[in-house]
Amino acid sequence: MDIRSNVLRQLKTRREGFSLEQPFYIDEDYFKLDMEMIYYRDWLFMGHDCELPKAGAYFTVQIGEYPVVIVRGRDNVIRAFHNSCRHRGSRVCTKEHGSSVRLVCPYHQWTYDLDGKLAFARHMGDDFDKTGYGLKPVHCESFGGYIFICLAQNAPDFQPVRDMVAPYMVPHHLSDAKVAFQSTIIEKGNWKLVWENNRECYHCAANHPELCRTYPEAPSVTGTDGGADDPEIAGHWARCEAAGLPSKFQISPDGQFRTARMPLIEDAESYTMSGKSAVKRSLSDDVTIDRIGTMLLFHYPTTWNHILGDHAISFRVLPLSANETAVTTKWLVHKDAVEGVDYDLAELTHVWTETNDQDRRIVEENAFGIHSPAYEPGPYSMLHEGGVMQFLEWYSNFMVNRLQSDQAKLSVVA
Ligand code: FES
Ligand SMILES: [Fe+2]
Repeated sequence: MDIRSNVLRQLKTRREGFSLEQPFYIDEDYFKLDMEMIYYRDWLFMGHDCELPKAGAYFTVQIGEYPVVIVRGRDNVIRAFHNSCRHRGSRVCTKEHGSSVRLVCPYHQWTYDLDGKLAFARHMGDDFDKTGYGLKPVHCESFGGYIFICLAQNAPDFQPVRDMVAPYMVPHHLSDAKVAFQSTIIEKGNWKLVWENNRECYHCAANHPELCRTYPEAPSVTGTDGGADDPEIAGHWARCEAAGLPSKFQISPDGQFRTARMPLIEDAESYTMSGKSAVKRSLSDDVTIDRIGTMLLFHYPTTWNHILGDHAISFRVLPLSANETAVTTKWLVHKDAVEGVDYDLAELTHVWTETNDQDRRIVEENAFGIHSPAYEPGPYSMLHEGGVMQFLEWYSNFMVNRLQSDQAKLSVVA
């Protein structure tokens, strides 16, 4: 039986409330199908527009087999391109970050304008038509300080993401922020294990002493039931919304993205060991109250986020192989906040640096045990692991729908 039929059958007959069968977490062919169906077809969070402060600023990223460059144009528009030269395919931009008036291929110096058009190609003859050899565009959208791209030929509609999420982001002015620090860690585990771990706090009390000083482990905070029946959460929303900060729990109909503003423990302001703000200069002057907690946003398959009053933390999940995932964390502060004056970098980054490393170990141990021939899917906690079940339901529905629609297209062609 071919791999697609296998995956389809296993997902359609999977035992709900249980973890997946072993190959979903370790098999390279299953991994390739995940990439093809999800990462190569859907919207992916890449980074922040404040990382591209002026025309010509760019950053590069590798998504599975696709090298991509994201660049701010002379017209201020942020665009994404396949980072593969139209001459003989060399990578055009080789650095992670850079700034350039034009994008010049290092191999034979074909030179592209910031909007992707081929401007110069040496010694190609007078009759060479440059217009057919611009960099291939990748769909690119940005809002609220976040840049998303989509590698598919026909991208899914991005408007529902913008409509639901943008109002929550706008008051925080993340386009006026700067990245104070970033880290990329490689977790030796499948990307779905990284997400499963993120979507529950069942593991928090025993594993995250630093985070648990300020982040509540209550399932109503991390889960996907909404939290409206928790009086503390409902009170928090009412107070924040009265101050102009959209806060209520919202989730997209297909479960792909969610927003909610949640209180921290005992009125903590930030993820620090003391609970006090890590940054003196707040992120936004439009936030006029204190104790706003954390604005939680996830968008499968690439990002979860915490936006606080004094700083914001974004996370980007990029799979490298069936058993390796890169997690990039960025700490954003107001662009005028000065290190050593307005914040201490070690204090700003301590809690999540420790938490990330603890989560890395958890994911790696999880992956280690799943490789055992003795592994079989186990039951989730109904109380604490609703978020994990929701993630798997999204994954499963997404894969089944796409595999079936591909099958339908193929049968029409045949
Ligand atoms: S491959 Fe880029 S200029 Fe030749
Ligand atoms: Fe964790």
